[in-house]
Amino acid sequence: MLELQNINKTFNKGTPNAKQALNNLSIHLYPGDFVSVIGSNGAGKSTVFNAIGGSFLLDSGHILLEKKDITFLPEHKRAQQIGRLFQDPLRGTAPNMTIEENLALVYLRANKHRTIFGITNKERDFFRSKLAELNLGLEDRLKIKVGLLSGGQRQALTLLMATMITPKLLLLDEHTAALDPATADKVLELTAKIVAAGNITTMMITHNIASSLNLGNRTIMMNNGQIILDISGEQRKQITVPQLLELFKEKSQTVLDDDRILLA
Ligand SMILES: Nc1ncnc2c1ncn2[C@@H]1O[C@H](COP(=O)(O)OP(=O)(O)O)[C@@H](O)[C@H]1O
Ligand SMILES: [Mg+2]
Repeated sequence: MLELQNINKTFNKGTPNAKQALNNLSIHLYPGDFVSVIGSNGAGKSTVFNAIGGSFLLDSGHILLEKKDITFLPEHKRAQQIGRLFQDPLRGTAPNMTIEENLALVYLRANKHRTIFGITNKERDFFRSKLAELNLGLEDRLKIKVGLLSGGQRQALTLLMATMITPKLLLLDEHTAALDPATADKVLELTAKIVAAGNITTMMITHNIASSLNLGNRTIMMNNGQIILDISGEQRKQITVPQLLELFKEKSQTVLDDDRILLA
């Protein structure tokens, strides 16, 4: 479904600041995989997502999505197939536009002949039903500006926008890290529900080690631009958080170093 084949990226090549952020990294995702990605600060987690999303071109290696080579596909073309969420809840929605206008943007992105004007009643009903599934009461607030929503509501709306037309791949980069714990849990719960309902192949970077084992079917650990551990199935079911941290230490020869790490 998604194949990263020996991808390499060095930033600031040939300068004293050169940094090899991706080191011959390969991974194969199967349809419906929900992969949690953990690793120290600077391990290259976001860089993997940026490589898949097309923020920069690779130094070498290939990226295949549903068997199509997207290595050189421009970022905006990839965005039509790949949903992305970031840590910052302000990043995915337009604050001066209403909820329904933001949702209509999804169609605009997918189809260049569409405008956000002239939302039909049928579309509005559809938006309402989708918003109702979020359980945040937004279905009655279609005409309010998104800038008035809380961070958690905005992130839930961004999640809805990223998945309303089922993407081939969903990339979540610490999308709950800026939310308070209760709201983060709620958005995570919504994430699991939406991903399961659409059987969406998903990668989620998280600082929450426990949820990296509880959510989805596969856990990947990164260090120094490489994948050092990739567990699923029985091994993943059996493993505890302390054992996972011990494995990280064993494989990387360092401790998982992240001041924001959450163990429970
Ligand atoms: N656009 C960039 N320019 C220069 N260096 C970068 C860029 N993006 C990431 N890096 C560097 O690459 C390394 C990996 O970063 P990143 O993927 O953001 O780590 P994380 O695992 O914390 O998400 C870091 O050393 C970071 O400073
Ligand atoms: Mg990051």
